Amino acid sequence: MGDYTNMAGYYDVIMTSGYYDYAKIVDSLVSHHPERNVLEIGCGTGLILEELAKRQPKLPITGIDLTAPMLSIAQKRLAPFPTVSLSQQNITELALDDKHELAFSYGGVWYFVIDGDKEPFLVSHIADQHANELGFEHLAKHIAVGGTLLLGIQGPHHNYETTISNGMKYSQQIDPTDIGFTKHYFLHDGEQKLMDQTVHYRTYTFAEAKALMGAYGFEYVAEKDANQLFLQFKKVK
Ligand SMILES: C[S@@+](CC[C@H](N)C(=O)[O-])C[C@H]1O[C@@H](n2cnc3c(N)ncnc32)[C@H](O)[C@@H]1O
Repeated sequence: MGDYTNMAGYYDVIMTSGYYDYAKIVDSLVSHHPERNVLEIGCGTGLILEELAKRQPKLPITGIDLTAPMLSIAQKRLAPFPTVSLSQQNITELALDDKHELAFSYGGVWYFVIDGDKEPFLVSHIADQHANELGFEHLAKHIAVGGTLLLGIQGPHHNYETTISNGMKYSQQIDPTDIGFTKHYFLHDGEQKLMDQTVHYRTYTFAEAKALMGAYGFEYVAEKDANQLFLQFKKVK
């Protein structure tokens, strides 16, 4: 279920070679005016949280992630920021002391894919249906009524190979499955394979996602901004 151990040591160089645009992600987050304790689910190595903490040094921030080697990189990165607290947790068993006004995930546990004019669909790092229900149930307990959940939007995934900033070759391969798709991630240095990782993703149509999330009090809020990087849900009960 979404274990990033194999990729952890190479994650930053792959992601900061253009895979994600962290400054833009944080621009979008900041436009939601986070004021109280913010929660990132699936914070990985802390690249988003570092940028957020730099821009809003007084904002209390919590990050959780399942994969210990990802979180240990985040811990080093975020050590200079006393407002950030990190904890190794699976979303399906999330247990934190506080309720949050704003929670978000960008490429973390759940995200949406939008392919052109088609309806968004939800992608989950968690393959099992019941575990997804548990994940939203536990997340819901940590968001205040009236609070917001933002889930990041990505383009469709496809097979490709690219040279990253250190000269290594990153490639990915997507295979459709009965429940969604499997994604294989590879990193090669010349002929030598340095990393491979496989994640089995479950997908939900937009109607299924709204029903799944609605069962735990998350209601979709349509936004007009075509350049938005997140879909927004309000915790209504
Ligand atoms: C693609 S990374 C995204 C990291 C970070 N948000 C970023 O933008 O760089 C996905 C992260 O989600 C975490 N993850 C996957 N399933 C999870 C779960 N069930 N509970 C908590 N974290 C999970 C993985 O460990 C991984 O660090």
